Amino acid sequence: MGLLDAKVAILTGGAFGIGRATALHLATEGAAVVIGDIKTDKATDVADEISSAGGQAIAQHCDVADERSVVELMDTAVRTFGGIDLLDHNAAWTDSLRDSDALDADLDTWDRVHQVNTKGALLLARHAIPSMISRGGGAIVNISSGSASIGEITRVAYGVSKAGVEQLTRHLANRYGRNGIRANAVAPGFILTASSAKGVPESYRTLLADQNPTGRLGAPDDIAHVVAFLLSDRAGYINGQVIHVDGGTQIAGALPGPSGP
Ligand SMILES: NC(=O)c1ccc[n+]([C@@H]2O[C@H](COP(=O)([O-])OP(=O)(O)OC[C@H]3O[C@@H](n4cnc5c(N)ncnc54)[C@H](O)[C@@H]3O)[C@@H](O)[C@H]2O)c1
Repeated sequence: MGLLDAKVAILTGGAFGIGRATALHLATEGAAVVIGDIKTDKATDVADEISSAGGQAIAQHCDVADERSVVELMDTAVRTFGGIDLLDHNAAWTDSLRDSDALDADLDTWDRVHQVNTKGALLLARHAIPSMISRGGGAIVNISSGSASIGEITRVAYGVSKAGVEQLTRHLANRYGRNGIRANAVAPGFILTASSAKGVPESYRTLLADQNPTGRLGAPDDIAHVVAFLLSDRAGYINGQVIHVDGGTQIAGALPGPSGP
């Protein structure tokens, strides 16, 4: 018996990193996973890996900032697996050079960051919730970031967009809780993925690990396991929360991660 047997999960940004690990883990827990990503080839590789291991998954091109693309993703889930029970909005984007500070951040970058990270979360919820309600309820996890609750000196668009994701999550929890839908956010600390590791020297990684109360850097599975739990009925009374999965970085006042996707 898996935690998510017979559930259908939409997962965005499953081609790489945390999303890839989460797709694999949700499938291991019994969910049929629909992976939406702009990197269709890599997302298809992940879906194939799940199918080869005996799980159920499909991948589809989806730009979460584009409403039509989001609707097509939902339609595919309903057509292929009969409905939607779970949603993990994991996809995110920023450009760490252009997303700098309040005086200099490039405004086109600001707009795109908000379209993918925050508007994407809204579009996905908007088009998944009716299907969830028709099946008696569901669960949503939006991936935020520790950046949402500190005042980083850079990545202003990214931090603001993730704070928006957290606020949207609280709205969804309160507005649709009585429809049987729970919504929570997971705020990762620095999790070692190909994208987060870019430009981060080994020495800085060692410093981050040393400063972490748990004594190590985070791994994609650290997030995947919490997402699966929050999406499952075992978390049935957790609603509207932001769960920091960072080994204790923030409570220790340690250094935040140096970059993000
Ligand atoms: N890795 C970290 O240290 C860290 C820290 C805090 C928060 N996070 C959050 O965790 C999540 C995953 O991070 P990651 O490090 O695995 O990132 P990643 O860059 O490896 O993966 C992001 C995925 O999103 C996809 N994507 C980007 N734009 C998209 C769009 N418009 N539509 C659909 N898919 C799109 C990418 O193709 C990729 O597969 C993100 O929400 C990120 O903000 C990560």
